[in-house]
Amino acid sequence: MTPSRRRTAVVGGLLGALLVAGVGWAWADSLVPHTYSVMGMGSGGAHAGHADTAQRTAGAGPDEAGVVSVADLTGPRSGTPDVTATLTARRQAVTLADGRVFEGYTINGRTPGPTIEAIRGDLVEVTLVNAAVPEGITLHWHGVDVPNAEDGVAGVTQDAVPVGGRHVYRFEVEDAGTYWYHSHQVSHEQVRGGLFGVLIVREPGPADWSTGPQDVVVPVHTYDGRLTVEGAAGRRDLEAQPGEAVRARILNTDNGPLRVSVTGAPFLVVAVDGRDLVGPTLIEGRSVQVPAGGRYDLSFVVPPSGSVRLQPGLDSSTFVSIGPAGAAVAPAEMDLPLVDLLGYGEPDALPFDPERADIRFDYVIDQRPGFVRGRPGLWWTVNGRMFPDVPMFAVDEGDVVRMTVANNSGALHPMHLHGHHVVVLSHNGIPAAGSPWWVDSLDVPPGETYEIAFLADNPGVWMDHCHNLDHAAQGLLAHLAYRGVTTPFLVGGPTANHPE
Ligand code: C2O
Ligand code: CU
Repeated sequence: MTPSRRRTAVVGGLLGALLVAGVGWAWADSLVPHTYSVMGMGSGGAHAGHADTAQRTAGAGPDEAGVVSVADLTGPRSGTPDVTATLTARRQAVTLADGRVFEGYTINGRTPGPTIEAIRGDLVEVTLVNAAVPEGITLHWHGVDVPNAEDGVAGVTQDAVPVGGRHVYRFEVEDAGTYWYHSHQVSHEQVRGGLFGVLIVREPGPADWSTGPQDVVVPVHTYDGRLTVEGAAGRRDLEAQPGEAVRARILNTDNGPLRVSVTGAPFLVVAVDGRDLVGPTLIEGRSVQVPAGGRYDLSFVVPPSGSVRLQPGLDSSTFVSIGPAGAAVAPAEMDLPLVDLLGYGEPDALPFDPERADIRFDYVIDQRPGFVRGRPGLWWTVNGRMFPDVPMFAVDEGDVVRMTVANNSGALHPMHLHGHHVVVLSHNGIPAAGSPWWVDSLDVPPGETYEIAFLADNPGVWMDHCHNLDHAAQGLLAHLAYRGVTTPFLVGGPTANHPE
């Protein structure tokens, strides 16, 4: 070997060693300790070797340092509840209406679990019982801006409930609308497998719904590859008379977006994610796309003849027909353009001024090769950082917060902030021009940017993650934390909390 060749070989060997060392470091750095506090995220505290550095508070009320524990941010502890439910969860074989059997989860023996119905202002008390879910369970009230201790996130707001255990949730429902509940322990498996249900909050008023609009709940979920409405594939008929007004509440409990078309009558989008739209106008020849985790309430009047077809997804054999018994159902129309809510309805005042934001955040989603939990792959990043080094968004109570969510990754991400509704300010730089568009679940397609704003009015430590729950399990998550609030709960640990 000539000297120059030898030098090349030596340099090459050194580079190779450095590369191996670098990769080894990245691998070691990605390892999540057995137990950690989310309070350490974004500061290195959640890394291996730095476990348990976050301060822990116990007991009631602020300590000397003025720190409040999320465990103390509960709903009303006294008072007779207006609505009570006991929800008992099991992991078991589930048989769908078409006879298909898969290993999933049930609540009170069924999936979806029982629908909880309340009137705005009610105190709701739910007792969750784990009869047979070995990995533990929680319940998260998706879209209900509950006090933090009731939020049901394992390792952040509570410990997962072990087999034989129970947990009581108590909260007031302050906003009428369509919501859902689901486990937030190993949620990418438990939600897909059926550990969820519907929560409807209605306006106070006449209890007799026969004089009001027909209220139809349409929870759409894919079980074992099969799209269903309330757990059943195929056609579903609901009787309604010509001239009758119908409110159809569509819930998308899957990981991907859900297209819904309405044929046979023009329709209105009257509410999104439990918030009414202002001045909705009639739509015809367009579909809506409901983000994962999102809810759209559509309203229409049953036509003089024929029945209205609600078509979720692309399998024309599964749909809902609403009209007089025996009426002909409108044909499916799958390829309609989508309604854009950015300019839908009438503008209205907001409860805060986003132009006078106290704080601005970026939530930039990207992808790069690396290691998450020691596994190599092309993983999600938030602001260039990979789980568990994801950012912590710190706010003070009362802050008006603006956030720019930019998606530079190659996939769609339905972003979900817990504990708050956010209003859409702009999409790809185009300002919102229609009704205030409040969401808790917002699809951010690849290459696109949304600007959103919210009022920090619900102290706690809140997840802000992708509701494609597989993406969340791969690390596409962050937290919004109020200064002065901390959590005594730990991810991992003896209770094996695994929120995603
Ligand atoms: Cu419906 Cu954190 O989720
Ligand atoms: Cu995602």
